[in-house]
Amino acid sequence: MTTKTRRVFIKTYGCQMNVYDSDRMTDVLAAEGYEAAERPEDADLVLLNTCHIREKAAEKVYSEVGKLRLVKEAARAQGREVKIAVAGCVAQAEGEEILKRAQAVDVVVGPQSYHLLPQLLRREGRAIETEFPADSKFDHLPKAGVPSASVSAFLTVQEGCDKFCTFCVVPYTRGAEASRPVEKIVAEAEALVARGAKEIMLLGQNVNAYHGEAAGQFGKGGTWSLARLVACLSEVPGIERIRYTTSHPRDMSDDLIAAHARLPKLMPYLHLPVQAGSDRVLQAMNRKHDRGFYLRLVETLREARPDLALSGDFIVGFPGETEADFRQTLALVEEVQYASAYSFKYSPRPGTPAAEMDQVPEDEKSERLQRLQALISKQQADFNARMRGLQVDVLFEKPGRHPGQIVGRSPWLQAVQVDAPRDMIGTVARVRIEAIGANSLFGALADAPTREKAIA
Ligand code: SAH
Ligand code: SF4
Ligand code: F3S
Repeated sequence: MTTKTRRVFIKTYGCQMNVYDSDRMTDVLAAEGYEAAERPEDADLVLLNTCHIREKAAEKVYSEVGKLRLVKEAARAQGREVKIAVAGCVAQAEGEEILKRAQAVDVVVGPQSYHLLPQLLRREGRAIETEFPADSKFDHLPKAGVPSASVSAFLTVQEGCDKFCTFCVVPYTRGAEASRPVEKIVAEAEALVARGAKEIMLLGQNVNAYHGEAAGQFGKGGTWSLARLVACLSEVPGIERIRYTTSHPRDMSDDLIAAHARLPKLMPYLHLPVQAGSDRVLQAMNRKHDRGFYLRLVETLREARPDLALSGDFIVGFPGETEADFRQTLALVEEVQYASAYSFKYSPRPGTPAAEMDQVPEDEKSERLQRLQALISKQQADFNARMRGLQVDVLFEKPGRHPGQIVGRSPWLQAVQVDAPRDMIGTVARVRIEAIGANSLFGALADAPTREKAIA
């Protein structure tokens, strides 16, 4: 008789922190003997790692569970049990409601309890865990069992948010701000490098609010800022590039701004959401900063690092937003000149203060979104077009779409396609940008062979 391996299929929604968490759940389940399945139909466990940020994101989960119910029934007809687990922010926000509404779901597990997953799966009947346990999930997750990391690897350093913007569910789904200790982060970064990572993307819902305990070789207690953590990580052999996301304008401290001037491994690209351009709206959003503060901050950052490119997030049609308010958002975008940005129609989230305010009609939201997106697309295209003819350092990450091509990222996070040997994946090389596409840049190795001379 052959031993039956168990297989798990994980589908991830939402932000990069969910991507990181899905990898950690893969590790937890690998320690239990689970291997990855290519499709839900081949799996013994289907895990949905969900996002609750906007209504559509949450609804997707229920429609996906509806499809999975059929997979489960088909398997049962063949005498095979398939479990369905819902993890992530919908699990945290809706909890018991999921078990009531979706009979096919066996396990509901919130973002702070992933280390309890094996236990929950072993329980008879349906199981739910959405507490914020006192012990950190990070301390209980097994060492990564996967042999290789991606060239650019995620590392969560901070979780949760205390800001309570009036539109946002994150403080409720991810809990209060908490930072991981310095030594754990450095050890994880070293492990990622040993597995092939060259770039570390530090993650947190509010990453620049990082304030981690430093102990042992890193100090006699005391807390470190994100700037200090980045400086420390840029000394770790093998790390060529560091990025961090997402930042709140209020937590953009002087030492972090100075780090952009001082640390060449810290890439000149910053995701710095402002959400809106009107002070009235910013105040109603409880953003804790105004338009002037944000614009001055951008100026200071650009003084520190003149080639810094910015991206942002915007919400249009926040309750009470008038045409005049919205124009101030457009004007702010004109002033900042973003390299890229995300924009969303305001989506009322149950339990948040803004959901109770006077709503803007849907068609107005849609019309504003179109105007804002047109402006942002133009800025993104202009930013990319300016790269033509320039030489930029590219960290190659993976094979490209066509044979003989590999693809990497510029310091400004642009995808760059180049004809080059596959063994250059994981290295940095200078590339001359020759053409600009809609989603990526195309270039040629500047002066082959450049690898010895490569600049990080
Ligand atoms: N921690 C990050 C944001 C996380 S959510 C920060 O503070 O910037 C990512 C983005 O989703 C937000 O920046 C916001 O633009 C958008 N968003 C959050 N709640 C939303 C809602 N209710 N409706 C529409 N967009 C929303
Ligand atoms: Fe949400 Fe605001 Fe916290 Fe960002 S800062 S996660 S938008 S509450
Ligand atoms: Fe979504 Fe939760 Fe991330 S709501 S954006 S998955 S923190």
